[in-house]
Amino acid sequence: MANTILIGAQWGDEGKGKIIDVLTERVDWVVRAQGGNNAGHTVVVGGERIVLHLVPSGILHAGKRCVIGNGVVLDPMALVAEIAEVTRRGHEVAGRLFISDRAHVVFPYHRMLDAQGEARRAKGEQIGTTQRGIGPTYSDKAARFGLRMCDLLDPDFPALLRARVEEKNRVLAAMGAPVADYAAVLADIQQAMTTLAPLVCDTIPLLHDAVQRGERILFEGAQGIMLDIDFGTYPFVTSSNASSGGAATGSGVPPTRMNNVIGVLKAYTTRVGEGPFPTELHDANGDEIRRVGNEFGATTGRPRRTGWFDAVVARHAVMTCGVTEWALTKLDVLDGFATIPICVAYELDGQRINHFPANIRAAARCRPVYEEMPGWHTPTRGITNFADLPDAAKRYVARIVQLTGVPVGILSLGPGRESTLLLGAQPA
Ligand code: IMP
Repeated sequence: MANTILIGAQWGDEGKGKIIDVLTERVDWVVRAQGGNNAGHTVVVGGERIVLHLVPSGILHAGKRCVIGNGVVLDPMALVAEIAEVTRRGHEVAGRLFISDRAHVVFPYHRMLDAQGEARRAKGEQIGTTQRGIGPTYSDKAARFGLRMCDLLDPDFPALLRARVEEKNRVLAAMGAPVADYAAVLADIQQAMTTLAPLVCDTIPLLHDAVQRGERILFEGAQGIMLDIDFGTYPFVTSSNASSGGAATGSGVPPTRMNNVIGVLKAYTTRVGEGPFPTELHDANGDEIRRVGNEFGATTGRPRRTGWFDAVVARHAVMTCGVTEWALTKLDVLDGFATIPICVAYELDGQRINHFPANIRAAARCRPVYEEMPGWHTPTRGITNFADLPDAAKRYVARIVQLTGVPVGILSLGPGRESTLLLGAQPA
């Protein structure tokens, strides 16, 4: 029996969608436990590309069951659109997709407040959110003012919604912003619930029983450790726990039932939105990584910031998430570089440090300490055997293992399922 948590070990966009897709073959359930449709998990199956935001990518595999857990914030209209797309492509959701009745709901006023919040922040303090209403929804959850999927099924829902719309409209009006239209929101939600209501249930006993039967669960993390509300580059983070702990609190499956943690790690680093990024490149190398790696946001289309591999960040993921193996992705993007620097530590105000600082201003002052690795100048895409990799590429992988103390179990050399090398311990 093995329940596996998969997390992003950088700032998101590590290629989790593809790894989850590959691992799904070995599990019975795929569970989302945090985040919302700020996530964009790109999966390429049989040459066909699909980006999933809320529905776990296990839905693309016949017979696998998927859960949107209590820790997720769910935009009902966005979910209905995604279900329609998945269904159009021939994947059944009835009896396979289960939505927690405890999941909090993203309403249009949350999106409006997200946009206003960003617009009103001082220059330099804007987060660069995806504007999907994620922060305001988690704020309402913490403030105990949110509505959950179970509330949408309650006969009192119209009154509950009206009270919220009135309150949020007072806030929006005070900002001089457009307000939400209660009747339109109610009608949209009621329409969405004709699709969603049959999928909503108490997912706690569902998953508990699955665990008791010895079925295997893959927890599909969204975003990455450096965007975690507690361990990331606060306040330039998302509003949920993208670290492995979030898998337990966001699903109701307790930590004692978790067995492995796979950290998805890109062979270089990217970040979308604002905030410190010590190995960021502002030169032709950065542009080249963006071009070859097609580093544009799956959710927003924004160009991603790019930089070299950062072992300080990877070690931060190891310490906070208990990573047991890496899935190292997009190594092929580095095929064309003559030398490839790896950041092994930072220099902060003249001192060498090995850990990511809490203080955001200190993080912004960190200068990477690089070690230069020779490039391999050979295409690696299409290689299906680790032994066939160029020696320099093998040394690059080995150095990452050495610097982090965690083995690479999966190596990805291209977007398709077929360009994935399974090297070691997998969910058994
Ligand atoms: P929010 O989650 O929309 O509030 O955005 C907060 C920060 O997290 C912004 O910098 C976003 O760009 C970033 N972010 C949120 N979701 C993702 C993701 O799935 N991948 C990468 N960055 C993300």
